[in-house]
Amino acid sequence: MLRTAPLDWTSDDPHLSGNFMPIGPEIDANDLPVIAGRIPPELRGSYMRNGPNPEFKPISYAYPMDGDGMIHAVRFENGRARYRNRFVLTRGLMVERRAGRAVYGGLMRPVPVDPALVGPDGDPGPLKTGAFINVLRHGGHLLALHEASPAYAMTMDLETIGEWTAGTAAPIAIGAHNRRHPASGSMFGISYRVSEAVVDLHEIGADGVLRRSQAIALAAPSMIHDFVLSERHAVLLVGPAIFDVAAAEQGKPLLQWRAEMGMRIALVPLDGGPPRWIEADPFFVFHFANGFERGRDIVVDYVRHQDPGMGPRSADRTPPRAHRMVIDTIGLRIAADHPLADFPTEFPRINDEFEARPSRFIHLPTLTGTLTMPDPPSASFNALVTLDAETGAMRRHDLGNRLAGEPVFIPRPGGRGEQDGWLVVYAFDPATQTSDLLLLDAARIDAAPVAVIRLPQRVPQGLHGHWMPD
Ligand SMILES: [Fe+2]
Repeated sequence: MLRTAPLDWTSDDPHLSGNFMPIGPEIDANDLPVIAGRIPPELRGSYMRNGPNPEFKPISYAYPMDGDGMIHAVRFENGRARYRNRFVLTRGLMVERRAGRAVYGGLMRPVPVDPALVGPDGDPGPLKTGAFINVLRHGGHLLALHEASPAYAMTMDLETIGEWTAGTAAPIAIGAHNRRHPASGSMFGISYRVSEAVVDLHEIGADGVLRRSQAIALAAPSMIHDFVLSERHAVLLVGPAIFDVAAAEQGKPLLQWRAEMGMRIALVPLDGGPPRWIEADPFFVFHFANGFERGRDIVVDYVRHQDPGMGPRSADRTPPRAHRMVIDTIGLRIAADHPLADFPTEFPRINDEFEARPSRFIHLPTLTGTLTMPDPPSASFNALVTLDAETGAMRRHDLGNRLAGEPVFIPRPGGRGEQDGWLVVYAFDPATQTSDLLLLDAARIDAAPVAVIRLPQRVPQGLHGHWMPD
């Protein structure tokens, strides 16, 4: 049964307002209007994107840690585009649909669940995992991903199948960001634990079956949102964002910033050997663009948060910036680490065909002065930048007073080179309350869009997605 009704609630929370406001209807629309340019006829496949879209008014809400998953899919074929969106029907959302209201608190402010609501399956548990952070395809499985919890398998038509087991006897906990090895086709994923100083590194074969899991000991239970892969290593940047369950039981924040613990970088050999560690001054990384080996070095392109705002504000208010770090794997030290540009950014992406291989072009959202909205909430962007990490050259596409999110690279079928393809991104115009999907020439993003496709309903600011060729 599709949900057709709009949501019947509003909120003052800036991350539940404007284009962050969730939507209710699940719809299908064929032959979307192309209001500028044309859709390249060779484009065949689906761009899918996930994001937090709570169906019921939350009891408490912390962006981007709470919500229900909603996947928006635009499928291209023969120069035409069609749209479909669906909720991810997690166990937690089904509990709330039975109750007709929000049952869980937020991750940062959990509330006890009414025991009368607990069914024979043990649901609802204490926390809801909404599978709203990412969506990707691996080994024939379409996965809606949360963090440190089971992913949900979906059909390509966006029907929810259930918790994903990766070919094992039970669902496995996995993170939202996963990396594919270019030689083996294995997908690597991580999953931290809130009450144990351990992160698990999973290798899931190209067939979608869990091949091995390696438990990596940490100094403290740590929040690790993303990591990078190179040809021979998984590289984990473990910042001092620490879970403290005992403090939480006394009413203090579960997640704490312990700057004195510094940054610890793990080089984990993919052949299963023990990790080697490098220590550095504190900073935090939510998202990486790419990592690759270069001789004895590993190059890591990432967005650096000098202070992620998880504790008392530090003196350094440098906004998040794109950085390139060079790690000397023989000398076990950071050989270089410099900003690639001075604009604020997050959600970096590359041409995924270059994952764990040498790459130089990073596609980044940013915020410019042409956005006239006062006090835009975090994760609001109105421009895209393509950055050449080798030369520092930049091209920019400014959307003025429209809001954009993460750009995703679509390789041209049979294309050659890292920049042969398109960038796809949603853009929302607050003046008309309409959402468009923009296709930009990845090599010339400063040119007029290749195509502007009008969506049949507003597509909220979301999180992450992928291109899935047919
Ligand atoms: Fe993320």
